[in-house]
Amino acid sequence: MYEIKQEKKEDWWDVESLLDLSFAPGREALSSYRLRDGVLPVAKLCLVARDFDGIIGGSIRFWPVQIGCNKARALLLGPIAVHPTRQGEGVGGELIRSALTLAKKDGWTRIVLIGDEIYYNKFGFKKSNFLRFPPPTNPNRLLYLELKPDAFKDVNGEIQRSE
Ligand SMILES: CC(C)(COP(=O)(O)OP(=O)(O)OC[C@H]1O[C@@H](n2cnc3c(N)ncnc32)[C@H](O)[C@@H]1OP(=O)(O)O)[C@@H](O)C(=O)NCCC(=O)NCCS
Repeated sequence: MYEIKQEKKEDWWDVESLLDLSFAPGREALSSYRLRDGVLPVAKLCLVARDFDGIIGGSIRFWPVQIGCNKARALLLGPIAVHPTRQGEGVGGELIRSALTLAKKDGWTRIVLIGDEIYYNKFGFKKSNFLRFPPPTNPNRLLYLELKPDAFKDVNGEIQRSE
């Protein structure tokens, strides 16, 4: 059983260690980090799952981004990670569903991410052929979700760092 709470300052190092464990070395060289450089995460949507002994099981973070020449506001989901010994227990799914509910409540309408469609389509994410992510990125892994119908209508082009 897990408790999901908003990430606090004191969670930072536990989350960073979890991310180091879950991703290949040099994760900060990934193109998604260029969209995060110098931009604050969306604090309300950064969540940590801890078991009842307080041990971290998973984390999800979000950053704001903007899309296309209209600079349409969107969220970049990630990084998300679940401790290797706790994967497959539904923690990742719970983190995503909790964050999506909060995002919707806060008026966000668009989410993008880089990931495996096979995992994220159960939360409604689809492949995008109308968005571009900073290279190097496999376009097949660029996914989007509308939290409001037609939120991506007339929104296309390059995903950029939030100004
Ligand atoms: C991806 C991740 C967050 C999923 O968390 P989780 O708690 O294991 O996920 P859940 O328990 O909610 O879901 C597990 C299911 O998703 C599947 N799944 C997990 N990762 C997957 C992937 N990359 N592609 C396809 N399916 C995947 C599992 O096989 C399992 O399927 P089942 O329910 O049919 O058995 C976790 O595996 C992880 O931290 N991976 C390493 C870091 C990473 O790759 N992060 C995502 C970057 S986009």
